[in-house]
Amino acid sequence: MVEYIKPSTIEQRKEWIKEADYNLFNLTSEKVFIDLLTDSGTGAMSDNQWAEMMKGDESYAGSQSFLKLRDTVKKITGFIYFLPTHQGRAAENVLFSVLVKEGNIIPGNSHFDTTKGHIEFRKATTLDCTIDEAFDTTVYHPFKGNVNIEKLEHALINDIENKIPFVIVTITCNSAGGQPVSIENIKQVSEVCKKFKKPLYFDAARFAENAYFIKIREEEYKNHSIKEIAKKMFSYADGMTMSAKKDGLVNMGGFIALNNEDVYKKATVFNIMYEGFITYGGLNGRDMGALAVGLDEATEFDYLETRVEQVAFLGKQLVDYGIPVQQPFGGHAIFLDANKFVPTIPRSEYRAQALAIELYIVGGIRSVEIGTILADRDPFTHKNRYPELELVRLAIPRRTYSLNHMRYIAAVLKNIYDYKDQAKRGYKIVDEAPIMRHFTVKLEKLTS
Ligand code: F0G
Repeated sequence: MVEYIKPSTIEQRKEWIKEADYNLFNLTSEKVFIDLLTDSGTGAMSDNQWAEMMKGDESYAGSQSFLKLRDTVKKITGFIYFLPTHQGRAAENVLFSVLVKEGNIIPGNSHFDTTKGHIEFRKATTLDCTIDEAFDTTVYHPFKGNVNIEKLEHALINDIENKIPFVIVTITCNSAGGQPVSIENIKQVSEVCKKFKKPLYFDAARFAENAYFIKIREEEYKNHSIKEIAKKMFSYADGMTMSAKKDGLVNMGGFIALNNEDVYKKATVFNIMYEGFITYGGLNGRDMGALAVGLDEATEFDYLETRVEQVAFLGKQLVDYGIPVQQPFGGHAIFLDANKFVPTIPRSEYRAQALAIELYIVGGIRSVEIGTILADRDPFTHKNRYPELELVRLAIPRRTYSLNHMRYIAAVLKNIYDYKDQAKRGYKIVDEAPIMRHFTVKLEKLTS
């Protein structure tokens, strides 16, 4: 599908972003020229996916579309049980309703915000065990999403009160900059989990991109197909949650897949309560059909190479301009390092958000802050928690934009970079929700 994108002027955008309370989520799409807010559900579907939509079986129970999806998930992941959900956070809601109890601690590599939200909502906490290299954007490490095994083991050794019910690893790790996790690391995590008898789950939203990085960066797997690598990755886990809006190549969808029958049985109850019957889970038959095809397409090398290399094309242009970005480049996005880009704006004034707003005003490009606003307040002290990194994410939708769009984005950023030293003030929060505040936060511009 080809869409018209509407140009606008800087003057118009200054007005629009003010009306939107300086929250990019509040902008309507026609006010955005290039939309890099997210790669979630924003990609284009293929001819074969559209064809499958036409064959959607909308039976309430046991539809053919469900069976196609179930069989594809089993083929690609190897997990025995499968529950469809309407998106990734719904899968988290259902699975965590079974697994997470008040006071629990859930270790993992930089949990995504909805994952953290669903854990904290249940009065449990997350423990970030990502390797230190992930928090320095200039250090090269091929697998910056990796888990620090010592830190994980330390947490498990000290868990005398048995507060850790499971470990969750996000592949690729969105919050660390779309960074992959190696099979070697997954294997080590799995060994530690086995030693302490804890199940290992994946947040697998971008598992295919993770498999691509393994193929090109982990010597042992260079001659393996993406599908073989994906199967190998999943073989070390007990289950997964999936936002199919990413590597499922669909606009809406998600699922849970796992091996433990008891957990599956308990999860079916929550699935029926929150999502719908277990053979549709909030999805139309046609959605499930399109997802079955999407999962197959997303695990093909040629597609992934085009996808990941387009993201890298943008990254390379920015690096050539001297702009500080997370390196190596992520699979689905380029992350600007706002601490290095605009150190002149105080952190308490949300410098990454200030940069994202500038990018919108100057180029009509919508990105998203992955920094202090997103990190929410500490649930106990209610103080801002300042994450190690202040990032602006330029998420590239799948199969949507061309290299010319990438050149335009890079040129706009170069312009901004040229006058970055003039930036002194940021924003203050005037209204915020207690959890996941970034979606609805209202801001005011500070001037000196
Ligand atoms: N896990 C990861 C790693 C994600 O990136 C997301 C969503 C989810 C879970 C939740 O899935 O949106 O289908 O409910 N990430 C989107 C993003 C929103 O922009 O990165 P969902």
